[in-house]
Amino acid sequence: MSSFIAVLYIIAFALFIYGLMGLTGPRTAVRGNWIAAAGMVIAVVATLLTPGMGNWLLIILGVVLGTVVGVPAARKVKMTAMPQMVALFNGVGGGAVALIAWVEFRTTEGYAHEPEYVAIASLFAALVGSISFWGSNIAFGKLQELISGRPITLGKLQQPLNVIVLVAALALAVVIAAGGDSEWLMIGLLVAAAVLGVLVVLPIGGADMPVVISLLNALTGLSAAAMGLALDNTALIVAGMIVGASGSILTNLMAKAMNRSIPAIVAGGFGGGAAATGGRSAEDRPVRSTSASDTAIQMAYAGKVVVVPGYGMAVAQAQHAVREMAQLLESKGISVAYAIHPVAGRMPGHMNVLLAEADVPYDQLKEMDEINSEFAQTDVALVIGANDVTNPAAETDPGSPIYGMPILKVNQSRSVIVLKRSMSSGFAGIDNELFYDAKTSMLFGDAKTSVGDIVEELKAL
Ligand code: TAP
Repeated sequence: MSSFIAVLYIIAFALFIYGLMGLTGPRTAVRGNWIAAAGMVIAVVATLLTPGMGNWLLIILGVVLGTVVGVPAARKVKMTAMPQMVALFNGVGGGAVALIAWVEFRTTEGYAHEPEYVAIASLFAALVGSISFWGSNIAFGKLQELISGRPITLGKLQQPLNVIVLVAALALAVVIAAGGDSEWLMIGLLVAAAVLGVLVVLPIGGADMPVVISLLNALTGLSAAAMGLALDNTALIVAGMIVGASGSILTNLMAKAMNRSIPAIVAGGFGGGAAATGGRSAEDRPVRSTSASDTAIQMAYAGKVVVVPGYGMAVAQAQHAVREMAQLLESKGISVAYAIHPVAGRMPGHMNVLLAEADVPYDQLKEMDEINSEFAQTDVALVIGANDVTNPAAETDPGSPIYGMPILKVNQSRSVIVLKRSMSSGFAGIDNELFYDAKTSMLFGDAKTSVGDIVEELKAL
């Protein structure tokens, strides 16, 4: 039986890795996800075949409960609510790991007769799993707007308090590893880690949230891998390390793309703050608005149009209309490209997925670094529901919460047309100077309706 289980695990790991390869491109991502999920089913079956598995009634009850909660939630979730869903599911993983570490503590009488590495790995899993569970729940609350998305800090006390709680959690772990077997020590450790998770995520706001979610994801993976080590469960080690490694790489890439340092984000050094309005409220300032027909005419006489998609395009589900508009422009001999910012939308690759869904040719999608050098030769930059990723304050206003984040240099184009419903701010909660620029016109309305109107006007030209 044990060799059969080992073979099943190897098949499962091969499927994880093959599935992960599929996730590297939007066209193969759905298949990759199915393949990895099939691998996970095999890993679960292999684990359940382990001799002495235990109470089948409880296991079946757990599987049924998980399915009843998980499947409808995953099916119903809107694409735009995906980040909070990821935060929630990721948090549950961390919480499960922390609970397993606690159970291990109880069944082994405080790891008394276990080798030292089991105690150390379990304590690491308890600490990191609990941080990840509570941190992810706060991230969920912020993204779901159950609590304010803006930084909630304790001011100057924040960092000393974080350090004190971290030291307390580590001290409890050391006492347990040294032979302390009172259950209160373990409960204290889990509570200290919980407080730390909450304290670290509450002050993070605005544009830094995606990096934090990815970091928490990586932490959950690492805690699962540590627990696998303690339980001698290969499936948990491999799956945990895959999540830990890919989550860490993603965190690093996103932090780099946003010109942030991960320690600075965790220490609460960045995040959304006061709106950068230069002392005047948004309502005071004049903006130029335009119409769908003027937009169509302006683009019809352009040589080069760059579409800048953002979160609003996702909300409006305007991608198919955008594709139709681009085809009409191309049929008139106008060159069309799409500028893709790494954190446009609400999840990594959000714009790529939407545009791939609408069959936009992949070679028209230009990464930020590539397209930024082309804006100066662009006649019309058509900003569709993007805001923060175009905000020049990131380059010009050291007081802005997004200062230092690389942006799409839309304001270098000869003219800019912004499609959005109002003058409301984006995710970071700050005003955008681009909208007041002399060469910017605003086309107010839902992005899908506006693009649809532009398409009709283009057809009529
Ligand atoms: P945002 O700055 O969030 O701006 C989106 C804009 O879309 C809003 O200003 C909104 O203005 C407009 N909008 C909403 N619904 C619309 C509709 N139906 N039709 C037309 N416009 C609509 O978006 P962005 O530029 O894509 O930047 C993304 C932000 O999210 C960044 O701050 C990023 O850090 C953050 N974030 C990103 C991720 C990842 S990984 N991508 C994850 C979490 C957070 P109106 O209300 O006036 O229409």
